[in-house]
Amino acid sequence: MKKILIAYISRAGHTQQMAEYIAEGLRFSGACEVELKPITDINGAPALAGYDAYLFGAPTYHRTMPPAMEAFLFLAQQAGLAGRAGGAFGSCTHSGDAPLHIFDTMEHVFKMRLTGLGPFKLLEHLVETPEGMRACQDYGRSVAGLLG
Ligand SMILES: Cc1cc2nc3c(=O)[nH]c(=O)nc-3n(C[C@H](O)[C@H](O)[C@H](O)COP(=O)(O)O)c2cc1C
Repeated sequence: MKKILIAYISRAGHTQQMAEYIAEGLRFSGACEVELKPITDINGAPALAGYDAYLFGAPTYHRTMPPAMEAFLFLAQQAGLAGRAGGAFGSCTHSGDAPLHIFDTMEHVFKMRLTGLGPFKLLEHLVETPEGMRACQDYGRSVAGLLG
């Protein structure tokens, strides 16, 4: 059984909703156990040990990720995630910079093995639509596909 962590931050709930749909996509794709955790519940790098894949999610505010996500990435850097599967996502209204920056760090700093779909930004007004839900589920499936 593969273990997957979805760690996210969400101020108004849209990125959290994305995380829940992504978890559904992961679960649909087979034998895996998904844990959904707000990053504020993750205390210390050891709490990031033992997963086969990691998805990190954050909304974009002021063209960047929330400061708590920046701090979380410093923590994740100590967790030794090289070679692990993953992806990054977040809700936005226009620019959606946060998932791009998170994905960039996961790829180039952590040296993770990331989904070929790239960073996943979803416009806020689409999150609750069938189309948005399917896009999230497909993103989850794409990360599950990396696990063989
Ligand atoms: C003060 C403020 C600044 C924002 N800045 C951006 C931005 O720079 N780029 C963007 O795409 N969306 C921006 N947004 C929109 C949020 O990313 C969007 O509402 C998102 O769905 C919030 O996600 P959450 O519900 O997970 O907190 C901003 C929203 C607020 C309230």
